[in-house]
Amino acid sequence: MTPPSQSRRGFLFRLGIGLNVLGAALVGIPVVGYIFGPARRRTDGQSWIGLGPIGAFPAGETRLATYENPVRVPWDGATAKIACWVRHIKGERFQVFAVNCAHLGCPVRWFAQSRLFMCPCHGGAYYEDGSRASGPPPRGLFEYEYRVRDGALWVRGGQLPTLSRPV
Ligand code: FES
Repeated sequence: MTPPSQSRRGFLFRLGIGLNVLGAALVGIPVVGYIFGPARRRTDGQSWIGLGPIGAFPAGETRLATYENPVRVPWDGATAKIACWVRHIKGERFQVFAVNCAHLGCPVRWFAQSRLFMCPCHGGAYYEDGSRASGPPPRGLFEYEYRVRDGALWVRGGQLPTLSRPV
């Protein structure tokens, strides 16, 4: 039989090791999540989302469309709806633009009379093909990858565009 002081020392030693492991896990798990989280989101954030039948987008026109963000949580509410501009060129040729200005992200509006996208924040302007026309934006509008399947238009959505990570 072990003497009482030795068994108490062993217990305190094991308790110390356990507390150290617990402390390392409490500090380490958030750090690991912070480091590897963006890489995980990059791969699973995008998916193909239907925008509706192509008949809803007349050829030669640009129309606003919305889709439900595939990366959402229940309390997102109306903010889970993401807007995009759909330009139907002809046939199955489209361009789908993010509404966010390439300067600082304000939502751009389409003006059919002048055939320009205008940004209300700092006066950025884009031609109908999304290329930069004037103002502070450093590039044209961000474009979504799209495809036409069974008479419907689909876009690859699920992330907000940035200069370092276009859609
Ligand atoms: S955010 Fe559009 S021009 Fe600045």
